[in-house]
Amino acid sequence: MHPYHPPYGRMRPPHAWPPASAYPHVPPHSMPDRKMPPPLFRDADQFMKNLRMALVGERSAIAFYRRLLDMAPNDEHRKQIEHAYEDEKKHYRMFENLYIRLTGRRPDVKPMTVTFATYEEGLKKAFYDELEAAELYRDTQLLTRNKAIRDIFYEAMTDEMEHAARFSFIYHQL
Ligand SMILES: [Fe+2]
Ligand SMILES: [Fe+2]
Repeated sequence: MHPYHPPYGRMRPPHAWPPASAYPHVPPHSMPDRKMPPPLFRDADQFMKNLRMALVGERSAIAFYRRLLDMAPNDEHRKQIEHAYEDEKKHYRMFENLYIRLTGRRPDVKPMTVTFATYEEGLKKAFYDELEAAELYRDTQLLTRNKAIRDIFYEAMTDEMEHAARFSFIYHQL
């Protein structure tokens, strides 16, 4: 009987199949190992670096927008800035939870102070920060195959794109 074919009529259970070495034409590494999940990240170090940058960015934006809110000249400006401000708080919570899930530790985040001389300059800075954040989150998404982690960065990315539009809108209302 040909060794590659189980006997007809009575199929042998898998544990009784001949060992992989009985199939010399199949290189062992071409057999998928079902016990090994695919790696979570393409580049785990880069992912964690980006996640820490995201945490610092969100924390800094919260303090920055709080100050802009106090300088807003009217309700339209306040409405748009407040929307971004609330979203950044949501992003910070999402990223913090993710960080805790991945490391088992709380992140140690030191916010950076955004400096600006005038309200107008502040809006401009906010606009550019939003574009940069959207790009960082796009790049970070691409570092993982995990759907739940991708979704977090996808949501934050689209929010930042929306904030950029809001800041652009009120900047041109000045
Ligand atoms: Fe954000
Ligand atoms: Fe934002």
